Amino acid sequence: MNSHDIITLTVNPALDKSTHFKGLVAEQKIRCSEPRFDAGGGGINVSKAISRLGGKSLAVFTSGGPMGKMLEELVTKETIEFKAIPIQTWTRESFVAVDENTNSQYRFGFTGGEITADEEKAVLEALSKSKAKFLVASGSLNEGLSSDFYQKVAEIAKASNSKLIVDTSGEALKKVLETGAYLIKPNVGELAKLIGVERLEMEEVNEAAKKIIAKGGAEIVVVSLGPQGAVLVTKDDYEYVPAPNVAKKSTVGAGDSMVGGMVWALSQNKSLKEVIRWGVACGSAATMNEGTQLFKFEDANRLFEWLKNK
Ligand SMILES: Nc1ncnc2c1ncn2[C@@H]1O[C@H](COP(=O)(O)OP(=O)(O)OP(=O)(O)O)[C@@H](O)[C@H]1O
Ligand SMILES: [Mg+2]
Repeated sequence: MNSHDIITLTVNPALDKSTHFKGLVAEQKIRCSEPRFDAGGGGINVSKAISRLGGKSLAVFTSGGPMGKMLEELVTKETIEFKAIPIQTWTRESFVAVDENTNSQYRFGFTGGEITADEEKAVLEALSKSKAKFLVASGSLNEGLSSDFYQKVAEIAKASNSKLIVDTSGEALKKVLETGAYLIKPNVGELAKLIGVERLEMEEVNEAAKKIIAKGGAEIVVVSLGPQGAVLVTKDDYEYVPAPNVAKKSTVGAGDSMVGGMVWALSQNKSLKEVIRWGVACGSAATMNEGTQLFKFEDANRLFEWLKNK
C-alpha cells in the first residue's frame, strides 16, 4: 500500500438495505417498496463523507460472502479507493424501514460475523504497511475481536506517526485511551460512560473531556450533542458550536458524517474552529436526508457558511 492522506478502517461494515412500507401490523405480510442498497459501517461512511467534500481516502474494510461482494461493488460506485480484507463469514446486513403512515423509522442491526485471529492479523498488517497522515477507526467490533483491537490500531498509528481519529464506544474506546489517540468523538452518553458516570450535564462536558486530555487519552475531544451541536475541547480550548435548525428526516449517519467533515477539514490544514464547524455542518446536513443517505455537498457548504459567524 502506498501513502495516503486519510485511511479509514471498518472492521465491521454492513450492507445497508432501506425501504418504505405502510403500517406495521403483526402476523401480516408487510409490503415493502423496492430496497435501496448502500455501503455502510463507520469508516466506509466517513470515506463517503470525505468524497462528498471532494477529498480522497483509502477505505480498508473486511468483506465476506455475497454481501461483501455487493459492498465492494457499492464502494467502487462511490469511486472510493479501497482494500478489502477477505473474511470467511458473511458481511452483515442492516435494515432500515420507514412506515409512511406514521413517518417512523425502524432500524434493525445485526452483530457482525466472527473474525478469526488470522483475519485480524491481515487487517492489522494492512494498516502497518500503510502510511497515513490520518487514520480513522470507526464503528463497532465484530465477534471474535477483543476489546483492545482499536488499541492495537492506536499502537500502529503511533509507530507510523499517523494521527488517529476514533469513533467508537464502551470498552473499545476506553482501551484506546490507554495508548492515546489524536481525536475522539464520543456523543455525550458515550463520554459519560467513558468516565464512569450515569449522565453528564452540558456544563460538565468540558471538565470530563479535559480529564481525558490530561491523562494523555486524546489531544482533541469532540463531544457531539445531537440537535444541540457539538463542543471541541483541547488542553487549552473549549469551543461550542450550535447545530443549525434543519428539516430533519433521519439521523442515521450523522455521527459518521460529522467525523468525515472534521477529518477532511484537518487534512486541508483548516483551523480547529473550522474543523468543528465542518463537523457540525456535515452532521446536520446528513439529517436532512432519508434513511442511510449521508449529506449533499450543497447542504453542508451552506450550513458551514452559516456557522462561520456563530
Ligand atoms: N436533530 C438534529 N438536528 C440537527 N443536527 C443534528 C441532529 N442530530 C444530529 N445532528 C448533527 O449531527 C452531529 C452528530 O450527531 P450525534 O450527536 O447524534 O452523533 P452520534 O450520537 O454519534 O450519532 P450516530 O448515531 O450517527 O453515531 C451533531 O453534532 C449535529 O451537528
Ligand atoms: Mg456515533
